Amino acid sequence: MDALTLLLERRSCHALQAPAPEGEALATILRAAFRVPDFQQLRPYEFILAAGDGLDRLGALMEQAARAGGKPDDVIERSRRMPHRAPLVVIVVARVRASTIVSRLEQQLTAGCAVMAMQMAAVAQGFGGIWRSGWPMFDRGLHHALNLEPDDQIVGFLYLGTPRQSPPAATPSADADAHVSPPPGLPTREE
Ligand SMILES: Cc1cc2nc3c(=O)[nH]c(=O)nc-3n(C[C@H](O)[C@H](O)[C@H](O)COP(=O)(O)O)c2cc1C
Repeated sequence: MDALTLLLERRSCHALQAPAPEGEALATILRAAFRVPDFQQLRPYEFILAAGDGLDRLGALMEQAARAGGKPDDVIERSRRMPHRAPLVVIVVARVRASTIVSRLEQQLTAGCAVMAMQMAAVAQGFGGIWRSGWPMFDRGLHHALNLEPDDQIVGFLYLGTPRQSPPAATPSADADAHVSPPPGLPTREE
């Protein structure tokens, strides 16, 4: 798959099954994460990989966090099963490093790029994935249970595996004119 096809036609995949990427394939996915734009090479991220027993453990921690956070019963009930929607879940944590040059947002963007890069590297190797968030991304109780530092922020749960079926073709691109403009004071493309 060439780079432009990957960029233009990549789809997320909700229905994932085993096998998960492992060995060389998983190493390649992580190498893609380590190659994202990273101002000053701060490596402002941490990846927590849950597979096998790790999915059970993550589910238990999510259920515990949901319960402690006073979530409704149906949310508590679902939280234990959440990680089992794929054979591998990569929790991507933005771990902001001390810097007078690179802001918190810039570092978090680097971590966000890592989510996308890993998804693309997975798809390029025939796997599927989806970037998920939801309440667990912001839940300080879960952060604590995952041994995150107070300043850490989860930026995504990347679910990876083998697509149960090929996702439908990508929807047509957005209308560029609705999202693209010149600096104020210059005519738009339509004028
Ligand atoms: C930061 C972020 C959080 C997301 N969280 C969720 C989520 O919790 N659940 C979900 O179904 N999709 C979520 N999405 C959207 C999916 O990753 C995906 O982009 C969407 O289903 C559209 O599919 P596509 O990537 O094939 O266009 C999130 C995307 C981003 C960038």
